[in-house]
Amino acid sequence: MPKPFFMDHPLIQHKITLLRDKNTGSKEFRELINEVSMLMCYEATRDMPTKSIEIETPICIAKSNIISGRKVAFIPILRAGLGMVDGLLQLVPAAKVGHIGVYRDPDSHKPVEYYCKLPADVENRDIIVLDPMLATGGSAIDAISQLKERGCSNIKFMCIIAAPEGVEALSAAHPDVQIYCGALDSHLNEDKYIVPGLGDAGDRIFGTK
Ligand code: PRP
Ligand code: URA
Repeated sequence: MPKPFFMDHPLIQHKITLLRDKNTGSKEFRELINEVSMLMCYEATRDMPTKSIEIETPICIAKSNIISGRKVAFIPILRAGLGMVDGLLQLVPAAKVGHIGVYRDPDSHKPVEYYCKLPADVENRDIIVLDPMLATGGSAIDAISQLKERGCSNIKFMCIIAAPEGVEALSAAHPDVQIYCGALDSHLNEDKYIVPGLGDAGDRIFGTK
C-alpha cells in the first residue's frame, strides 16, 4: 500500500492557511484552490515516464526528454472537485476531464451518486481523482469504485485537506490508490466536518451559503 504523500511545500502551506480563513471570500477562495491544485499537480505527476527524442535547437541537434506513457484523465468529484480542474489543466492541457457527481447525505453522511460522465477511453488513461476534502472518505471511495467498475486502473487521489479517518478508510478500501494531500488535520466533528478544516468547500467555492 503506497503511503499517503503529504505536501509540506511552504507555498502550499501558506495558501492552505488563507483557504482556512473564514474571511477569505469566494473569488479569492477559488483562486487559491486553483493555485494549490497546480502546485500539487507538480508532485502528483513526478512519476510520469519520459522518453528521449532528438530535436534541433538554434545551436545544434540534441536529445531531450518529453513525457511518454499513458494519457491522463482528471476526474473531479462534483461539486467541489470542479474548483481544482483548471489548476491541473494549466500544467497538463492535453488531459481529458470526466465528472462524477456524489454528495454526502446530510443525515447519514453516506455518499449519494447522481452523475457520471467519463472520457470514452478512460480505462486506458492514468487517472487523478480530485476533491478538496477527504472527510469520512465515503465520497472518494464511492467515486473510485465507480471508476474501477468501468475498468480503470492506476488511479491517484488528490485532496487539499484530509482527516485521519478519511485517509484510513480510503487506504483500506483502495490500497492501490496513491493519496496526495495538502494538509492532514486533527479529526472529524459530530457533523463529520474536518477540524479545523475550511468549512464546506463547495459552498465556499460557489458562494452557496
Ligand atoms: C464534500 C466534499 C467531498 C465530501 C467529503 O462534498 O467536496 O466530496 O464532502 O466528505 P466525505 O469524505 O465524508 O465523503 P459535499 O457532499 O458537501 O457535496 P458538494 O461538493 O456538492 O457540496
Ligand atoms: N465536506 C466539506 O466540504 N468539508 C468538510 O469539512 C467535510 C466534508
